[in-house]
Amino acid sequence: MNTIFTLAEAIKERRSTRAFSSEKVTEEMIKLLFEAARWAPSAMNEQPWLYYYAGKDNPEAFNKVLGVLTGINPQWAKNAQYLIVSVARKFYDYNGRANNNALHDLGAANVSMAIQAAHMGLQVRQMGGFDKDKAAALLQLDRQKFEPVTIIAVGFPGNAGQLPDELMERERAPRTRKSVEEFATQIKH
Ligand SMILES: Cc1cc2nc3c(=O)[nH]c(=O)nc-3n(C[C@H](O)[C@H](O)[C@H](O)COP(=O)(O)O)c2cc1C
Repeated sequence: MNTIFTLAEAIKERRSTRAFSSEKVTEEMIKLLFEAARWAPSAMNEQPWLYYYAGKDNPEAFNKVLGVLTGINPQWAKNAQYLIVSVARKFYDYNGRANNNALHDLGAANVSMAIQAAHMGLQVRQMGGFDKDKAAALLQLDRQKFEPVTIIAVGFPGNAGQLPDELMERERAPRTRKSVEEFATQIKH
């Protein structure tokens, strides 16, 4: 039998959009994104991820999260339907030691979420550009134990023409990637 290997559709479709439409994202959809995160692999199956989210239907909470974003991020993220703060738990539950895999595992869960979003016709854009101290204060998190890592904007893709000029250009620029040869090396010795 001839098997044809192709890239999963949702991996091809995923992109970090800045242009979101006003189409509503339901709580049910958001829960499916968390379900995707739930099945991500993690060291010792610790699942060291926590998510705190606010939807447009609760403007007070949504605006509080929006308020911790920095730089140009709030200018486009305000059009998202949900903002999700992704947080890593820094210590293993099972023995209390530092979990050096926590950031890795949170990233894995976030990517699962992003691919599931693309599969549903949604898109997400992660942001490292936010004030972590402000986020921790908002969420009442102990920074010794918990690390806010990204804020994830979620929505259906919209029209890039609605963005400020600078962002419109960036949004429309071709996506670039290193070639596989640049980062993957076969070990031959
Ligand atoms: C950890 C992380 C932090 C990021 N921070 C920001 C950010 O603060 N603002 C922003 O506009 N995009 C941010 N991005 C999005 C990246 O710029 C984007 O993923 C990259 O340009 C590749 O584009 P693509 O996801 O569409 O393939 C971030 C992505 C990741 C994974």
